Amino acid sequence: MSALFEPLTLRGLTIPNRVWMAPMCQYSAADAGPDVGVPTDWHLTHLGARAIGGAGLILVEATAVTPEGRISAADLGLWNDRQQQAFTRITRFLRDHGAVPGIQLAHAGRKASTDRTWRGGGPIAPDEELGWRPVAPSALAFTGDHTTPAELSVDEIHRLVEDFVAAARRALAAGFQVVEIHGAHGYLINQFMSPYTNRRTDSYGGSFENRIRFALEVVDAVRAVWPDDLPVFFRVSATDWLTENPEDEREGWTPDDTVRLAKELLAHGVDLLDTSSGGNASKARITTGPGYQVPFAAMVKAETDLPTAAVGEITEPRQAEEIVASGRADAVLLARELLRDPYWPNRAARELGATPRLPDQYHRAF
Ligand SMILES: Cc1cc2nc3c(=O)[nH]c(=O)nc-3n(C[C@H](O)[C@H](O)[C@H](O)COP(=O)(O)O)c2cc1C
Repeated sequence: MSALFEPLTLRGLTIPNRVWMAPMCQYSAADAGPDVGVPTDWHLTHLGARAIGGAGLILVEATAVTPEGRISAADLGLWNDRQQQAFTRITRFLRDHGAVPGIQLAHAGRKASTDRTWRGGGPIAPDEELGWRPVAPSALAFTGDHTTPAELSVDEIHRLVEDFVAAARRALAAGFQVVEIHGAHGYLINQFMSPYTNRRTDSYGGSFENRIRFALEVVDAVRAVWPDDLPVFFRVSATDWLTENPEDEREGWTPDDTVRLAKELLAHGVDLLDTSSGGNASKARITTGPGYQVPFAAMVKAETDLPTAAVGEITEPRQAEEIVASGRADAVLLARELLRDPYWPNRAARELGATPRLPDQYHRAF
């Protein structure tokens, strides 16, 4: 029996296996005009191929809750009816092919207003075409090349919580069954959480409780509109990778902070911690390698009751099987390996002696 191909039930939702597609920005929506933020045929084909390939859950890329919250002008968004309507076609297709549709709701904060990654991904200044001035907890630029963001007022923070709620309502109406709040990779929520990026002196900065306030307000507000029988995920960067380097004295978010946060998230109704790392400090030195973030997922599993998903350089079926079978995570998320091979889950199923999930149209191939 393969642990990787056992279903996982969270609240009232059963996800058919534990091989999931990680959220991956495609920078492929129109960058201007009425279709800004609207998913296209590219998104349908790209996501649909991974459903046919056997992924149990597909998390749609970071989808902005406001125009200013896009990483690039070509990001997906979910702040209007047109966007919502276009997502329904995608969720229907994914469900028809046996995958659970999920979406990551995001705000890029100070890392907003950049170019598509394959054009270098650099910052675009507010006075350039397709650029705007980002917002953040504190007026600190991500790098020397980035625009210094405008510091958010408390009223603006409250409005952003409502923006997440509005996007969550739209996600539900569009047919999504999982919503993931993007609290990782140095985007807005992560910027609030880490002392490296949050220098506020009001109730949203300073102590740990104050720095996680925005995250918990978003979680509470989204949880209140997300059905009780459907799960809410939170993606965390388990460390800023600053304190791992002893010679580095900059203060950042740490693995201990992640465990503390995980306990809070559980109490606030989050159902799974998607455990990533990094992205908040441009100068951090990250040690990567096969499964390099699994220890963070395992740590949260060991010290809390919150289920976790592991992500990062998971590429081999037996490696994935071992992560889940050993109980270090409840599921694995694959990103780049699923770009290389959309059929990876079905290939892994065959390799591990489980039954691949094949569309009827392909029955003659097997
Ligand atoms: C093209 C691309 C786009 C990505 N976009 C997102 C995103 O929208 N949201 C997110 O949380 N992570 C994003 N990531 C990070 C992945 O979800 C994943 O955490 C990371 O690539 C490590 O997993 P891997 O080694 O399997 O690729 C992206 C990664 C890639 C390669």
